[in-house]
Amino acid sequence: VTFDINSVRSQFPALHIEDAGKRRIYLDGPAGTQVPQCVIDAVSQCFVQANANLGGNFPTTVAAEALVEGAREALADLMGAHLPESVVLGPNMTGLTKLMTASIATQLSPGDHIVLSRMDHDANVSPWLDMARSAGLHVNWLELDPATFQLDLGPLEGYLKAGAKLVAAGYASNVLGTINDVREICDLARRYNAISYIDAVHYAPHGTIDVEALGCDMLVCSVYKFFGPHCAALYVRPEVLERLPAQPLRPAPQTGPVKFESGTMNHEGLAGSLAAVDYIASLSALPASANRRARIVSAFDAIQAHENALLWPLIEGIKSMGGYTIHGITDPNSANKRAPTLAITHARHSPQAIEQALTAANIFSWAGHSYAIEPLGALGLLKSGGILRLGIAHYNTQEEMAETLAVLAQLNAQ
Ligand SMILES: Cc1ncc(COP(=O)(O)O)c(C=O)c1O
Repeated sequence: VTFDINSVRSQFPALHIEDAGKRRIYLDGPAGTQVPQCVIDAVSQCFVQANANLGGNFPTTVAAEALVEGAREALADLMGAHLPESVVLGPNMTGLTKLMTASIATQLSPGDHIVLSRMDHDANVSPWLDMARSAGLHVNWLELDPATFQLDLGPLEGYLKAGAKLVAAGYASNVLGTINDVREICDLARRYNAISYIDAVHYAPHGTIDVEALGCDMLVCSVYKFFGPHCAALYVRPEVLERLPAQPLRPAPQTGPVKFESGTMNHEGLAGSLAAVDYIASLSALPASANRRARIVSAFDAIQAHENALLWPLIEGIKSMGGYTIHGITDPNSANKRAPTLAITHARHSPQAIEQALTAANIFSWAGHSYAIEPLGALGLLKSGGILRLGIAHYNTQEEMAETLAVLAQLNAQ
């Protein structure tokens, strides 16, 4: 089952902008995706219909309250959380993670161990390193195997048995595309009473998240990576949410997710976040009357089918050229272990030169480290300019892949 790509693309105004008569090809999704008209409308309608603070009785405040709680419910559906009250809303993943490190630090003692991953974006590394430094903690690392581009989970049980109190790991790498075995990580953490903190930012636009099935304590994602505004959501298992301290202002709610949501929220962004989740659900072939969670799950089946149909010919095309190296899983038998994000380098051209060639053809990509300091360091790519990242989203097309391959081939011939 898939969706009609033309009908998808017709909903995204940005996909139809031309520069000097030349179409744009957006392969920059991992740094932020484009937005459908329904999200744009929801943001602007919030300013018209719901422009007030929360907690009053007149129509605009009632509408604003409904939007914020509607966004919480929608993001709970996206993450598979049974209770909307287990979702903390925030400005971005980095901010939410820093908030959590400050809170979790109060539960730890000097000499405690935590476990971090070499696969992760720096937003799921630096805040924990800062916490470890100021709280006097010891850090254990899950290493990235450069031969398989996967995390070596072998030592994890040993770290946990020895008493590690927390594991922070990513769902999928924002450069290599590798999907980690987060189920295994969360199972082990739970077995040894350690907190599991999952960064699902890169995974969220590409596959179904199910926090209840994962059994994670916390999982965080950013709405601007899945067709919405610059907002983020953090699932916290209710028992954990209850015991973690926050610092709400005195008149503000002292319990529930709101205790972590300081000040007036970004209502218009949350209105757009609600619309972004509904947009994803709308890609399902199930009727609009069906349960939203079921529609989200089936939409991601369609998204995955579409993205894989673009990704694997692109991988094959790049491989067959010679000259380029793909830093990541390239065996189609392991398709379920990767997201549609490619990190490439060239034998003679720097990532920055590849980016320039693509930009000259109005193909949008990123060169450098994309904040993935640990993975690129582990692969020895940090000092040589990093990688060129091609990120496929569900609104990309076969024609766009062919044009991208043509530009890469042209550069390869130089
Ligand atoms: C995997 C991953 N984690 C975390 C982040 C940080 O997210 P935010 O910009 O919402 O702080 C990013 C942003 O690129 C990311 O790709």
